Amino acid sequence: VGSHRSAGTAAGPKRGSLIVVGTGYLVGGMVPLLARDAIAQAEKLLCSVGDPITQHWLASLNPTAESLNDAYAPGKPRRETYREMAERILAPVRQGKRVCAAFYGHPGILVDPSHLAMRQARQEGYPARMLPGISAEDCLWVDLGLDPSDHGWQSFEATDFLVHRRGHDSRSHLVLFQIGSIGVGVYLQRPLWSRRGLKVLMEVLLESYPPQHEVVVYQAALLPVLQTRLDRLPLGKLARAEVNVASTLYVPPLAPAPRDAVMAARLGIG
Ligand SMILES: C[S@@+](CC[C@H](N)C(=O)[O-])C[C@H]1O[C@@H](n2cnc3c(N)ncnc32)[C@H](O)[C@@H]1O
Repeated sequence: VGSHRSAGTAAGPKRGSLIVVGTGYLVGGMVPLLARDAIAQAEKLLCSVGDPITQHWLASLNPTAESLNDAYAPGKPRRETYREMAERILAPVRQGKRVCAAFYGHPGILVDPSHLAMRQARQEGYPARMLPGISAEDCLWVDLGLDPSDHGWQSFEATDFLVHRRGHDSRSHLVLFQIGSIGVGVYLQRPLWSRRGLKVLMEVLLESYPPQHEVVVYQAALLPVLQTRLDRLPLGKLARAEVNVASTLYVPPLAPAPRDAVMAARLGIG
């Protein structure tokens, strides 16, 4: 790091820079204009997206495109993969290039390598910026036809939700990411990484909801030709549901929250 620092000049920041963008879902159909410009104008584009068509689209916008996904390997700890990805993003920044890193969905939601690369680039004195993208959760509200502010909502990464026993309000919407890889720290080459974790999740949710409470296993379409999946099922059947590592769980509110008349009066809306 010390030697990179010395590459800066008194005239200003070093020339290398990093911009991190999201590709949303649907092959670039959800890429904001600013992000599209950053993708096209980068001197080096590094990407981690979920399907070859989006990868192809990125390469058509910028021929320097290189996928980071070969850093995944069966049985390899994902933390190690993320560190490697961050290093691969930083290498051309250190060579003085304008680098763009593109990740599917929102690039800052549940994406360790983007945050690692941003932090490290800034620590080394390079300008680094992230643009917001469209996350799976954004798509979920649209596909369910819901305004989450109706009851308020909480979202958690599923393993984090369980291990930290996060409290949540069952009268609000609940969204759980990564229900297909609960408790698994390595990369596995199969659709569902832990049925055992899914069963534990079901058991914990049954502490707050009845078994017949309808939940939705959600999977946004990656390509315009594919169907979005909204599998509705009773919570009590979640452990045996068809879930994969791209599934997100939606749990609707159990009941409306009672209105606090004293509070309403205090606010002058009683
Ligand atoms: C590593 S996170 C990436 C999230 C992504 N950055 C975003 O903003 O949507 C992976 C998790 O995102 C969710 N996810 C990814 N692809 C999805 C899809 N096509 N439909 C619904 N959820 C998805 C799942 O919960 C999955 O386990």
